[in-house]
Amino acid sequence: FGRALRYTGTTTSTQDDLRHWAEHAKSPAPHGAVVVAERQTAGRGRRGRTWNTPHGTLVFSVLLCAPLTLPELALMPLAAGVAVHEACRTGGLKWPNDLLTSDGRKLAGILLEADLRGEEARRAVLGIGVNVGSAPEGAAHLHETQPGLTRAELLGRVLAALEHWLGQPAQNVLSAWRAASLTLGQAVTVTTPRGTIQGMALDLDAQGNLLVQVTGGQVHTISAGDVQLIGS
Ligand code: BTN
Repeated sequence: FGRALRYTGTTTSTQDDLRHWAEHAKSPAPHGAVVVAERQTAGRGRRGRTWNTPHGTLVFSVLLCAPLTLPELALMPLAAGVAVHEACRTGGLKWPNDLLTSDGRKLAGILLEADLRGEEARRAVLGIGVNVGSAPEGAAHLHETQPGLTRAELLGRVLAALEHWLGQPAQNVLSAWRAASLTLGQAVTVTTPRGTIQGMALDLDAQGNLLVQVTGGQVHTISAGDVQLIGS
């Protein structure tokens, strides 16, 4: 990954730049192409949120061109989370793929945007934002514990780790995710498009869904949503 790489100063969103490069350029972006930006004016987060890019954050997107099935797409955010955790060498993962410090502040976020055609996507754009030298209010940054780390060094590490983890079989991804988890075994509130539940985060299933046991014993399978760790 990153052998084809474009660096830009200010842009709307690296997700859009990479998509444009893949769709409209004379020599289209190849698999593994990367766009890195200094600043984004319309950075996107998961579930329609915006993603601020203060000075000193690392923001980039990676192009994945291969027929991707729905099960592969479902595991990809988890694999990317494992890669980012490995590269940042700190904190742990909140389902599905936020990197948090152990006291619950956000260090990095991941956004997967896939062009679905029926049961398959031909292409996906994986966007990653890491707070390296500064962070928005209430979030954390890597220089708190690794003051010498440069964005270039971290980018290299994340790309290498992504290449490794996106190529791993599901069971390896799931066990690495479990080992890096801050969510499992915790009391959580989960907000899904269908409502909010509270319970105990038990485990991941083989598809990467989060299993949450509510009071009374029923186990819910969560495939999309926001998790809040109770008490943090
Ligand atoms: C989240 O935690 O909600 C996901 C945040 C993803 C942010 C990255 S920054 C690079 C790429 N470009 C965007 O507009 N978003 C992603």
